[in-house]
Amino acid sequence: MLHRVQQTVRYLGAAGADERHASETARILRSLGADHEVIVAGLLHDRAKPSDTKLWHRVAGVLLSRFAPRVRARLARGDSTFARYLDHARRGARLAQADGASDRVVRLIARHHERPAGADDELLARADREALP
Ligand SMILES: [Fe+2]
Ligand SMILES: [Fe+2]
Repeated sequence: MLHRVQQTVRYLGAAGADERHASETARILRSLGADHEVIVAGLLHDRAKPSDTKLWHRVAGVLLSRFAPRVRARLARGDSTFARYLDHARRGARLAQADGASDRVVRLIARHHERPAGADDELLARADREALP
């Protein structure tokens, strides 16, 4: 099953760096003893992140989350690269749901840029941080 998901991620045409980030996140989760669903969430968590995301998108995203969440929510609508970056957790969760992922996997993906609310969130956040971008 995990192998199939990895193949899917590859098939989706993720750029090289994105694909490495996905498999590295999954590898770290496995080494931390995460269960299958958390590992799947690790593989898929950034699937909706645009491949042309720039460093400033990430920086601006963090600053907006911290200081202007309502502005952030407004900017996350639309189809620009920045909007799709800001909204990638929610969009990725929707894709996973459409593909039949479990509610737990969908929730982990949806929340992966929010403050961790439990052990699963914390595991994913740690692996996401430790996997090179
Ligand atoms: Fe992300
Ligand atoms: Fe990530």
